[in-house]
Amino acid sequence: MLDQLQRLPADPILGLAAMARADTRAAKVDLTVGIYMDETGVCPVFDAVREAQAMLATDEITKAYLPPAGVDAFNSGMQKLLLGAEHPALLGARVSSVQAPGGCGALRIGAEIIHAATPGATVWVSDPTWPVHLPLLGSVGLQFSNYRYYDPATHGVNFQGMVEDLKSAGAGDVVLLHGCCHNPCGADLSLAQWAVVADMAEAQGFLPFIDIAYQGLGDGLDEDAAGLRLLAERLPELIVAASCSKNMGLYRERTGAAMFVCRDQENAEALVSQALVAARRIYSMPPAHGALIAGKILSDSKLDRTWRVELMEMCARINGLRSDLRTKLEAASGRDFAFIEKEKGMFSFLGLSAEQASRLREDYAVYMLDSSRINVAGVNAGNIDYLAESVAAVL
Ligand SMILES: Cc1ncc(COP(=O)(O)O)c(C=O)c1O
Repeated sequence: MLDQLQRLPADPILGLAAMARADTRAAKVDLTVGIYMDETGVCPVFDAVREAQAMLATDEITKAYLPPAGVDAFNSGMQKLLLGAEHPALLGARVSSVQAPGGCGALRIGAEIIHAATPGATVWVSDPTWPVHLPLLGSVGLQFSNYRYYDPATHGVNFQGMVEDLKSAGAGDVVLLHGCCHNPCGADLSLAQWAVVADMAEAQGFLPFIDIAYQGLGDGLDEDAAGLRLLAERLPELIVAASCSKNMGLYRERTGAAMFVCRDQENAEALVSQALVAARRIYSMPPAHGALIAGKILSDSKLDRTWRVELMEMCARINGLRSDLRTKLEAASGRDFAFIEKEKGMFSFLGLSAEQASRLREDYAVYMLDSSRINVAGVNAGNIDYLAESVAAVL
């Protein structure tokens, strides 16, 4: 039976990353996978995480299953982190959430909830979006439509195109939005544009589904959640998929939250019961380690402070790299790279063709996706000059 199954191609991003790892050229620059890397090229463990982990190691008395909805301190901490402790939706008790295995698990739970409410619903996704959205949501049975989002000519959001396209989204449809630090393009909506999306959702009745995997890596924790908070205040219903992979560095611990903003408390509780049945069908119980760490950080004021300072340093470093990269690329190529500085988070399209990206790989050991998406956090003082010169050489 199993011998009929053919080998499948590697995931394009992970495949390229594996190719980069295997490349032994000394000048190699790997900007493929979306993980934060420090000046030394290492994806670091936060001090706050180390401290929380040390506390857990002494306090933990069991490895029994977590309750199906996960760690309480994590769930309530994440709601406050996402919405702000005084958000009217929280005070109105119309918010609920469950722990999920990473942002991916949260996206999948959200998709299951959507499918349970409207089987085969259409999800409007930005063009482009994170490619993994399609298998994660599509395998549940949801359909897709695209809305215009990134304009390569301006390196910014084509908001007029987005609004025109979303005029066709109606009640029963879902609009997937990147909460901040858009992956892959780094171009985010302004707060005024989020308000227009809220107007449209109100008038047309579509359900926003917000994927927020980079809170704190754009402008700061509160600033990056401003659009989400505005929608949660204005609209009766919202689904949020959040991840602690990047902003707490808990990638391998699979730590995420699916949060529901509902009409009322009864509906919020009903959605938890739906999410738990969906989780039971897929993985039963969420993993404990990451959420225990994140729950400890979010509920302990000293650890929370330590974490926020570390995250702010990360955010400042990314923004500093953006401006350094702009300066170096402009000096090396004589072209305009101002857009890199305007974008948010870890990603940017450099605006190269697939052929130029492949020449960079083959001739210079500089790895980026064929779309020319780079992970800005993979740039450092040791590789920035070589990167700028290599890009200029293929332009
Ligand atoms: C846009 C986006 N959403 C969600 C995720 C999910 O991350 P994870 O499942 O690792 O928490 C990622 C990770 O790269 C992402 O880029």
